Amino acid sequence: MVDFSPSNEIYFMQPTIAIIGGGNLGASLAEGLLEGNFVSPANLYVTRRNLQSLFPLQQRGVHITDQNLQAINNAQYIVLAVKPFQLKEVLEQLQPALQADKHVLISLVTGVWIHEIREIVGNQLSVFRAMPNTAIAIRESMTCICSTNATAEQIDFVSNLFNQLGKSVHIEEKLMDAATVLGACGTAFAMRYIRANIQGGIEIGFSAATASLIAAQTVKGAASLLLTKNTHPEQEIDKVTTPKGCTIAGLNEMEHQGFSSSLIKGVVTSYRKIQNDM
Ligand SMILES: NC(=O)c1ccc[n+]([C@@H]2O[C@H](COP(=O)([O-])OP(=O)(O)OC[C@H]3O[C@@H](n4cnc5c(N)ncnc54)[C@H](OP(=O)(O)O)[C@@H]3O)[C@@H](O)[C@H]2O)c1
Repeated sequence: MVDFSPSNEIYFMQPTIAIIGGGNLGASLAEGLLEGNFVSPANLYVTRRNLQSLFPLQQRGVHITDQNLQAINNAQYIVLAVKPFQLKEVLEQLQPALQADKHVLISLVTGVWIHEIREIVGNQLSVFRAMPNTAIAIRESMTCICSTNATAEQIDFVSNLFNQLGKSVHIEEKLMDAATVLGACGTAFAMRYIRANIQGGIEIGFSAATASLIAAQTVKGAASLLLTKNTHPEQEIDKVTTPKGCTIAGLNEMEHQGFSSSLIKGVVTSYRKIQNDM
């Protein structure tokens, strides 16, 4: 019987979540889910072998443990956030306790395919892969998700989970490498663009601190314009380029120097690297 009492209003239908591997990503995920009130601390388990860094989560009421089986016994959704080389051992440990009618796996582990996970845990379980980026720490991630065997309800739940932590999109698994490049490596690409602006800003007169603020907030504003208004970048560029003006002069010089071409080549080079190495 579902409890509709006011005290349970926020969480009344929330399944329990176990995060296996409370490192950088796993702990950020836990914090984001708590801040968004997506899950109550009592419904959240986080594991790792060395528990010390998880004490702040414990103080907020989250269950922390070094016993993965204990965590998943209490959970429906199991998030795997260990390093790729640690995943096989963790899955082999969990496998005997996994139940297809109870558990759903969500792997955040880069480069490990769903079929590789299913080779260990079997074909009955619903398995998701999700590729967030480091902005998950401030609930501004872009997360690409794919799944097999999942019900509409499970897909909704996992989408809602990652929408608490930024934005999410469902993709085909064959695009996961591309998602890693555009969404996760993309954070580094954007940082380089901002850094170059800071260097230019210092050369034209700003202190490093002021140039950093102007460059970062301007990029944030530009991205927000696209996300809010759903416009194409070139439409927004047209609004700031006046004939014979300084913006178009700077933009054209950047293009003469290969700006767009070098970014596209960088994206494609990262993609080739991930395809050849993983
Ligand atoms: N960081 C990102 O932005 C990002 C983005 C997308 C995907 N990913 C993927 O997310 C995964 C985690 O990345 P990360 O940066 O968070 O790595 P991390 O900080 O090293 O976290 C991994 C955690 O797993 C724990 N762990 C290892 N073995 C365990 C076991 N047997 N049982 C329970 N916990 C165990 C480790 O803690 P103990 O050593 O104390 O056990 C550690 O806290 C990686 O597979 C990465 O590819 C990361």
